[in-house]
Formats: sequence, structure tokens, C-alpha cells
Amino acid sequence: MILMNEPIVQITEATRTYHLDGTAISALRGVTMEVRQEEFISIAGPSGSGKSTLLHLMGGVDLPTTGEVRLFGNVTHRLTDRTLSNLRLLRVGFIFQRFFLLPMLTVEENVLLPMLEAGLQAQRRGERLEDLLSYVGLAHRRRHLPGQLSGGEMQRAAIARALANRPHLLLADEPTGEVDQQTGQQIGRLLQRINGEGVAIVLVTHNPELAALASTRLTMRDGLLS
Ligand SMILES: Nc1ncnc2c1ncn2[C@@H]1O[C@H](COP(=O)(O)OP(=O)(O)OP(=O)(O)O)[C@@H](O)[C@H]1O
Ligand SMILES: [Mg+2]
Repeated sequence: MILMNEPIVQITEATRTYHLDGTAISALRGVTMEVRQEEFISIAGPSGSGKSTLLHLMGGVDLPTTGEVRLFGNVTHRLTDRTLSNLRLLRVGFIFQRFFLLPMLTVEENVLLPMLEAGLQAQRRGERLEDLLSYVGLAHRRRHLPGQLSGGEMQRAAIARALANRPHLLLADEPTGEVDQQTGQQIGRLLQRINGEGVAIVLVTHNPELAALASTRLTMRDGLLS
């Protein structure tokens, strides 16, 4: 259950240290922040400053080394893998920086997958699929494989998939990184519309035009938010 006015994500003094070949890499060095319901946050910052790492903690695909992340009121590192993955499946939509779609599945199969995982009934799946494909303007590309799509179409397919189970939180990592300016604007408008329908968005982007859509603009530097 989501209580009124309870933040969707609450991060307290979170750090994330990676260990590689005997060296410790401090990707996050103590981040405190929250994401409120229906908020639109953008995060900018240099490459390697920890933006993707932070997004992964927010969505519960990774856990903090110290500190805590509360996702819909639940402390992520105290949940079982199964509970955490269910929470992600039903409440969080991800648009990853890379590797967004499964290459052997068509657009419609990619979009259907999270609904199958959530056990949505066949007729409802079909209806939701139609809604999503027309929402992102991809009904005419439904049987294409990701490799047969343009960059912007791939991104829109990834957005449709992220929205499949009606998430309350959408996490987007550089969704316009590899598309032209016009396509970038189109994706920006789509994100704005999604936010207008009540979905909180955290968007990592270097694009100032896209960042301007957010109500809260944050910058990450060397593992810290400013
Ligand atoms: N799995 C990993 N193992 C070791 N180090 C990692 C791992 N993932 C990330 N890092 C390191 O952590 C730091 C932060 O990485 P992160 O991916 O969060 O940066 P970013 O801000 O998203 O950068 P970019 O803008 O290039 O995507 C980097 O120095 C990176 O090399
Ligand atoms: Mg990144």
C-alpha cells in the first residue's frame, strides 16, 4: 500500500563501493535524497560520477554498501530477493542506459514480457499492449525485432515496456543518449506526459533541454549529490 505523501524513495547516507582487482572504488560516497510521489527529478553530472549506480539503488536492482534505501517504505537490503524483484516488477519501470530490449523478441513480445511475469490475464495483456503501443506510437512496428528499429523507436519500445505494469516510479538512464535532437524532444514530451499522469520520474541526462522538464534538478559529482 502507498500512503499519501509518503516518499516513494528515501535514500539515507547511502554509499556503494565496488571491489575490483583488490582496489575499492567509491561510486557513491554518502547520498541522502528522496523522490516524492509524482515528482520529476533530473540528474546530471560527469561520466563516472555515480549516476547509474544511484539509479540502480533507487530501483532496488543493487543494494547500498552502507546506509539505506527505502523503496515504497521498504528497506531494500532487508527484503528477500523475491520480494524485492516483485516490488520492482509491479511498481518500478526501468529504461536502462544500454541493453534495453531483448534482441530475439519482437517489440510486442518485449512489451508483453513484464505483464506475463506479473501474471496478468491474457485479455488484459492484449488490451494493455494495444494501449501502450499506440501511446508510444509504435503500433506499426510491433513485429519488428529491436535490431530492425531506429534508435528512437527502440527507446520508445523500452518506454512502453517500462510502463507495462503501470509503475509508480520510472527510472530513465540517458534515454536520449543515442538519438537525434528531434527524437530526443519527442521522448522528452512522452516523459512529460507520463509524469503528468502521476508517475514519478528520475531521469539521468546530460541534455539541458530534457533536464529543464524536471521540477527538481540535481547534479552528481564524484559520488555525491549537489
Ligand atoms: N560493476 C562495477 N565494478 C566496478 N566498478 C564499477 C562498476 N560499476 C560502476 N563502477 C565504477 O563506479 C563509478 C560510477 O559508475 P556509474 O556507472 O554510476 O557512473 P555514471 O555517472 O553513470 O557514468 P556515465 O555518465 O558514464 O554513465 C565509475 O568510476 C565506474 O567505473
Ligand atoms: Mg551511467
